[in-house]
Amino acid sequence: MSRRLATMRTSTEQQVAAHPSLSPWWRSAVVYQVYLRSFADSNGDGIGDLAGLRSRLPYLSWLGVDALWINPHYPSGGADGGYDIADYRAVDPDYGDVADLEALVADARRLGLKVVLDVVPNHTSDQHPWFQAALADPEAPEASRYHFAPASEEPPNNWRSLFGGPAWSRTPDGRWYLHLFAPEQPDLNWRDPAVAADFEKTLRFWLDRGVSGFRVDVAYGLFKDAELRDNPGTYSPTLFGHGPEQAMTWNQPEVHDVWRRWREITDEYPDTMIVGEVCLADPQEVALYSRPDEMHQSFCFRLLKSGWDTEAFADGVRSALDAFGSVGAPVSWVLGNHDKDRQVTRFGGGALGTARARAAALLMLSLPGSAYLYAGDELGLPQAVVPDEAKTDPIFFRSGGARAGRDGCRIPMPWNDTAGVGFSPDGAADPWLPIPADWSGYAVSAQTRDGGSMLTLYRRALALRAAHPALGSGEARVETAGDVLTVHCAGDDETVRCVVNMGTETVLVRTTGTVLLASSTSVRQSAGSIALPPNTAAWISED
Ligand code: GLC
Ligand code: CA
Repeated sequence: MSRRLATMRTSTEQQVAAHPSLSPWWRSAVVYQVYLRSFADSNGDGIGDLAGLRSRLPYLSWLGVDALWINPHYPSGGADGGYDIADYRAVDPDYGDVADLEALVADARRLGLKVVLDVVPNHTSDQHPWFQAALADPEAPEASRYHFAPASEEPPNNWRSLFGGPAWSRTPDGRWYLHLFAPEQPDLNWRDPAVAADFEKTLRFWLDRGVSGFRVDVAYGLFKDAELRDNPGTYSPTLFGHGPEQAMTWNQPEVHDVWRRWREITDEYPDTMIVGEVCLADPQEVALYSRPDEMHQSFCFRLLKSGWDTEAFADGVRSALDAFGSVGAPVSWVLGNHDKDRQVTRFGGGALGTARARAAALLMLSLPGSAYLYAGDELGLPQAVVPDEAKTDPIFFRSGGARAGRDGCRIPMPWNDTAGVGFSPDGAADPWLPIPADWSGYAVSAQTRDGGSMLTLYRRALALRAAHPALGSGEARVETAGDVLTVHCAGDDETVRCVVNMGTETVLVRTTGTVLLASSTSVRQSAGSIALPPNTAAWISED
């Protein structure tokens, strides 16, 4: 029987599994996360903006990604990098206006790129008109859209802010209000139907403007224990991976109904999707947010949290494949984002960290599912040291300086080797975060010309991933032998092995296959084997 006939006789579902081209784009998309404030400044005020991003779309298309997710672009109180939103259906004047966003979406579409926006439903800015109305009048209808408690000596319970300190602050008239993040980010009360109704309006506002979906901030939040009971355990000040010790603040069962409703809304708009930030310790719990009638995807943060360790990586990959597989959702792999130290630095810094980040990129891009790349990781940017006086992150301030904060992974992008690295036009104001003196060494312009650069590696990897469905859309099987991690990615016509040497000795991989791509020129192929030095990876096509 011909292949074509065989395909016609299978069910639609099987066809989709066997033929990635028929499957929705987001299941295997490479999504590039744009930190808007730091991407490209068009008007010289030292702040990245939508027109700047628009001018750099050809770069993203050349790089070979499928979509971009833009960190919050909304008018904001500026207390948490835009995650404190004052108006959900507008654009912050720092970034442009709604027409700029529409123009961006249109240009992106012409280049074959989708645009995904960030939406923040757990909390608003304290500058939001609702919170202002609630402050002015405790009886205002807006007051029930937040969590207020009557004036008293002690806060209503033991809940802590993820950024440090208590999760309750006082209003000028002595009431308490809840903020699981900064005090400028009051938590919304999702038990008030006006909240859900307004977010539905917001989703439609942007979907009607042609965006392809949303990344949902703190999607495991929204609802809190209705009786505000104390959390049972010790608070751990990490951003990712909450467990039973915070049972009253996160992961309440009611939240799943919100995602069911949001799924219905996006289902009205073809080819759109929602990806949730779900920072729960148990991957099975995370996957539940991506059941067929909920969000399309939820981030898998296990690799982002793993050190350079074979078992940690293998377990991260296996547990995610199992968990998401059990609900029929693709895994959304993440190695870097705007909340975590840069990969190169996490993996040991310098040449060592860079070698490992190169190998990790090949690992992530081989795995079935979608892959989220954080702007600047394709350049191998390290975590920058930001002087305390230039820091903006509330984590730094609320921890009394004990935690460095996240500014160091949010430095403006280096585009060329001029003094200002091409982030702003000549003669512009200082960039909103200081750019390290050696940043031009990482510039896009130089790396484009260098066949051995991180950027060239990413570009080749993305081109191969698009050309070989075994990569990104195959069936994956994970294997470890000592410090060698192997992922067998089986496609219809080809199996590609991604082999990563996480140990300290060179290993010989027996194969008659062909090396599609290696993370380093030190990877050598000879008759019947490939020599893989420490901290390198290779993609080997077995047929
Ligand atoms: C998410 C964002 C982070 C933000 C927090 C509060 O974790 O990724 O940047 O600070 O939510 O909105
Ligand atoms: Ca600007």
